[in-house]
Amino acid sequence: MSRASAARSEGGSFPPIGRDGLEFREALDGPFPDDIAIIMDGNGRWAQNRGWMRVLGHKEGTESVRAITTTAAELGVNSLTLYAFSRENWKRPDFEVTRLMRLLRLFLRRERRTLMDNRIRLMAIGRLDDLPRFAQDALEETMALTANNEGMLLRLALSYGGRTELADAARSIGREIAAGRIDPDDVDESTLQRFLYDPETPDPDLVIRTAGEMRLSNFLLWQASYAEFYVTDVCWPEFRREQLLDAIRAYAGRKRKFGGLLPGAEARRGGARSVHPRRSGPVA
Ligand code: FPP
Repeated sequence: MSRASAARSEGGSFPPIGRDGLEFREALDGPFPDDIAIIMDGNGRWAQNRGWMRVLGHKEGTESVRAITTTAAELGVNSLTLYAFSRENWKRPDFEVTRLMRLLRLFLRRERRTLMDNRIRLMAIGRLDDLPRFAQDALEETMALTANNEGMLLRLALSYGGRTELADAARSIGREIAAGRIDPDDVDESTLQRFLYDPETPDPDLVIRTAGEMRLSNFLLWQASYAEFYVTDVCWPEFRREQLLDAIRAYAGRKRKFGGLLPGAEARRGGARSVHPRRSGPVA
C-alpha cells in the first residue's frame, strides 16, 4: 500500500482529495495508479509544427508541468516522477541546455506557492552535481521549503539516466563490499534497491510517454520493470488535465499479473499459484 493510501486508510495526515478528484477515483472501473512517472516528450516538435523555436515548446511544457502536478496532487497520487532532463540531453546545443536550466530555475521559484498550497514535497533524482550552480541552488531551496509537506511527492529526474543510476548503485555496493560491510553472497535485488537514488519511493504503477515514441529512453530502468506503459500522440505542451485523466482511465482497465496469473486463472489451469507482488516476485 502506498504512503498516501496507508495514511488515508488510517485517517492519517494526508490531505483530503478534492471533491472532483474523489468523484473521478470513485467512478474508475479499476485500480488507481498511486505512483506515476512521465516521459515528457514532444516539446520541440510542438513548437516546430508552429514554425516556432524549439525552446518555446519547453516554455509551454512548463505550463503542462504545473497543470499535471496540481491535477495529480488533487487526485491523491502518491508520487509523480517527471523526466525533466536526461544525461543524454547534455548533448543538445548550449543555447537549448541553458534555456532548459533557466526554465527549471524559473519553475522552481515561481511555483513555490503552488507546491505549498497543494502540500507537495519536491525532490530530485539523478546526477544533480552536473547541474549549473544556479539550478542546484533553486532546487535545494525549494526542496528545503517543501520538505515537511505531507501530500504528493513530486520527483524531478534531472541529469538522470537509468543505466547511470544502476552503475552508481553497483559502485556504492562495491565500496561497501571492499569495506567489509556487505558480504557479496548477500547481494540481491533488495541490496541494489537500497542503493538507488531514492530507495523509498514505490515503483511507478504507470509510465506515461507523450509524443508517440514507443521507448523507455533510459528512464527508471529498474523501477519500471512491471509498470504499465501508456503512450499518447499528444505532445507534452498539450498534455493537460484531461489527457492525464485519460491515461489513468486506461490504466484502470489493465490487468496486472506481475508474471503470475490473474485471480481465478489457477482453477481453470489446474491449480498453479497466483502471485501479485508489488515489488518482487517471479521474473517472467
Ligand atoms: C523533451 O522534448 C523534453 C525535454 C528534453 C525537457 C522537458 C522539459 C520541460 C517540460 C520544461 C522544464 C522542466 C521543468 C520540470 C520545469 P523534446 O525537446 O525532446 O521534443 P522533441 O522530441 O519533439 O524534439
